[in-house]
Amino acid sequence: MTTRRKILVILGSTREGRYGDKPAHWILGMLRADGRFDAELVDLRDWPLPMFDQPRSPVKVTDGKYGNDVADRWGQTIAAADGYVIITAEYNHGYTAVLKNALDWIFREWNRKPVTFVGYGNAGGSRAIEQLREVAVELEMAPIRRAVHLPLDVYRATMTTQAPADPALFAPAEPAAKLMLDELAWWANALAVARAM
Ligand SMILES: Cc1cc2nc3c(=O)[nH]c(=O)nc-3n(C[C@H](O)[C@H](O)[C@H](O)COP(=O)(O)O)c2cc1C
Repeated sequence: MTTRRKILVILGSTREGRYGDKPAHWILGMLRADGRFDAELVDLRDWPLPMFDQPRSPVKVTDGKYGNDVADRWGQTIAAADGYVIITAEYNHGYTAVLKNALDWIFREWNRKPVTFVGYGNAGGSRAIEQLREVAVELEMAPIRRAVHLPLDVYRATMTTQAPADPALFAPAEPAAKLMLDELAWWANALAVARAM
């Protein structure tokens, strides 16, 4: 039996009345039911990081001291995980500014970990996800191929329900999610072993 890998589900939008809670709780439920992961929700609302303002690039930080207490704790939280599922909205064909800020604040803690995405919007968040993959490479992460682009029907069916939405409403997205979790499990395991060598 392989070790359970720690996966953080990062909820990447923070605006009042956001939709992001619903896919976040759905995929968290799938991760927890899977048996291969210990999954936790990381809600960017709980991380009041200022807009990045440091004189030094986080690439140069080797001691986890980023010049801001929240950022230091953010680094410790990210460091403790083996991989990430980012829940991403699409704002003007990109991803949210609050998410970019959270990604930029730290560096080493992201390195050599797999990342994947659950995107939503008119095109399943596909433009936001593609952009995030580019950013992930620069953070020395391993963005995996499989992601979930929430089908428009699912997005519409769950839009007006209270969070957490009934997981049954996400059933059309489950096959894609299962493939994504298989790939995430493989990469999280392989890279955890490699990091320990
Ligand atoms: C500033 C802004 C820009 C948006 N731009 C897009 C877009 O480019 N593509 C898209 O599919 N949806 C777009 N939308 C609609 C969002 O997909 C929708 O509001 C979604 O619920 C946002 O995620 P959130 O509720 O978690 O913040 C935009 C919404 C906002 C607030």
